[in-house]
Amino acid sequence: MDERFERYVTELFAAEDPILSKIRARHAAENLPAINVSPEEGKLLYVLLHAIQAKRVLEIGALGGYSGVWLARALPPGGELTTIEKDPKHAKVAQEAFDMAKLHGRVRLVAGAALDVLPTLTPGFDAVFIDADKEPLPKYFDWGMKLLRRGGLLLCDNAFFHGAAIDPNDRSPNALGVRAFNELAAHDRRLVATIIPVRDGLVVGVKIRESA
Ligand code: SAH
Ligand code: DHB
Ligand code: MG
Repeated sequence: MDERFERYVTELFAAEDPILSKIRARHAAENLPAINVSPEEGKLLYVLLHAIQAKRVLEIGALGGYSGVWLARALPPGGELTTIEKDPKHAKVAQEAFDMAKLHGRVRLVAGAALDVLPTLTPGFDAVFIDADKEPLPKYFDWGMKLLRRGGLLLCDNAFFHGAAIDPNDRSPNALGVRAFNELAAHDRRLVATIIPVRDGLVVGVKIRESA
């Protein structure tokens, strides 16, 4: 998107409060990669969760807790975000972010690799936001579909993966993972889905049935 439109949306709809600004500043101070969602993508996630009155949400890939704060803030009292993070340093920064945002009661941070943690979770999530490593994305698709309730949202960041999604010559494991995920989202009959071209692309799907 034209940067001027992005700025307009961010300033009007997605202005950061001091806590979100501080979390981003801490990413830099702790040398975490600056690959968190943008404010307008965070606001989009926040709006989508409100649309379905989400109570139980799963995130794969917490990093420093930036997207997690947007997600958890969309939940009603008694709601819960479960977020999985495999890097212990990222998990520590994320936990501090949730504490700082006074969301500790609403966020369960599970330290570990996604494919180890996912089989331990109870199905019935209202939304699953996938934003971790890209090579296993087809596996994350299967887990997301398994863990979502009917009517739940399947969300996945980096649908374009910096252009790799539309470059058939890019045969890197990450590019193959992203393209495979997008193709599953497009064709799986249990899902209606599209890509919203926000930042690096966000897959948004609704699980409409349990079996194809
Ligand atoms: N959602 C975050 C950004 C996530 S960046 C935000 O927008 O604020 C991707 C994160 O996924 C990194 O912190 C990385 O350590 C984590 N990650 C990578 N592979 C993982 C895996 N297999 N299981 C769990 N987390 C993983
Ligand atoms: C990268 C960016 C992301 O937003 C992400 O979730 C993972 C990786 C990257 O630029 O490599
Ligand atoms: Mg991402």
